[in-house]
Amino acid sequence: MAFAARSGGLATARSVAALRVRVGDWRADGHTVALVPTMGALHRGHGALIEAARRIADRVIVSLFVNPTQFGPSEDFQAYPRDEGRDAAFCDDLGVDLLFAPTVTEMYPAGFATSIRVAGLTEGQCGAFRPGHFDGVATVVAKLFTQARPDSALFGEKDFQQLAVIRRLNRDLDLGVNVVGVPTVREADGLALSSRNAYLSADERRIAPALYRSLQDAARAIAGGARVPAACAEAREQVLKAGFASVDYVECVDVDSLKPLVEFEPARPARILAAARLGRARLIDNLAVIG
Ligand code: PAF
Repeated sequence: MAFAARSGGLATARSVAALRVRVGDWRADGHTVALVPTMGALHRGHGALIEAARRIADRVIVSLFVNPTQFGPSEDFQAYPRDEGRDAAFCDDLGVDLLFAPTVTEMYPAGFATSIRVAGLTEGQCGAFRPGHFDGVATVVAKLFTQARPDSALFGEKDFQQLAVIRRLNRDLDLGVNVVGVPTVREADGLALSSRNAYLSADERRIAPALYRSLQDAARAIAGGARVPAACAEAREQVLKAGFASVDYVECVDVDSLKPLVEFEPARPARILAAARLGRARLIDNLAVIG
């Protein structure tokens, strides 16, 4: 069975079989299980997911898998930060019970031919700029859910569209997992924590919080009665003026359908979402518009 013990005692399952044995033992003892799916490069945002997982389940699994199918051909799959030793120590400190760190061939053996596409929700926002990205996310998350069969799985609200896609997938395929969204963790200046912040130079790091500030201004303006397209256009301008190279989108959307809104109605939950490029990093962020 592919288990590798690590100093500090936190076990790492490398195979689906090993993962299932461990989860089966926990189930036999009557324990509940939460899964925190990650691509590693763990930071305090992941820490918040792990802490939330520990509050709702007896046992916590963190998966570490840089999933190749969610990266486009010109994206950063090769460059994506990887440091399993550091991630394992981080998880051990937070009381994680098991790491699941499969190889690419364990997840996608020769002949692998299945892809899951969640229609509609994946077409706008990031989906329009990263073709195939959410198919890769949906496929790997469906695999992780069926491999670990957790009671709950936790995801950050920073990836708001991803969270909506996973909720839909979970409902549509009757996977039966309690999908929990955890609020975004931010630096003191408002920048949302992200593994990709590591790509920012010192100058870019100073510019980066402008994305959040612009969304805050736009959300306030919309809640105060400004026209949605004008407020989004103003946010886009602010981001560019701050020094971002380009803005993929700034959109205020209905939280369930992710369809862009033209009018904000306080009774209908809305969220403002953005993605923009700064140096090597593509940063995303979002926040609720509260009327
Ligand atoms: O958010 C992430 O880190 C990834 O998209 C996920 C959910 C682990 C799937 O690879």
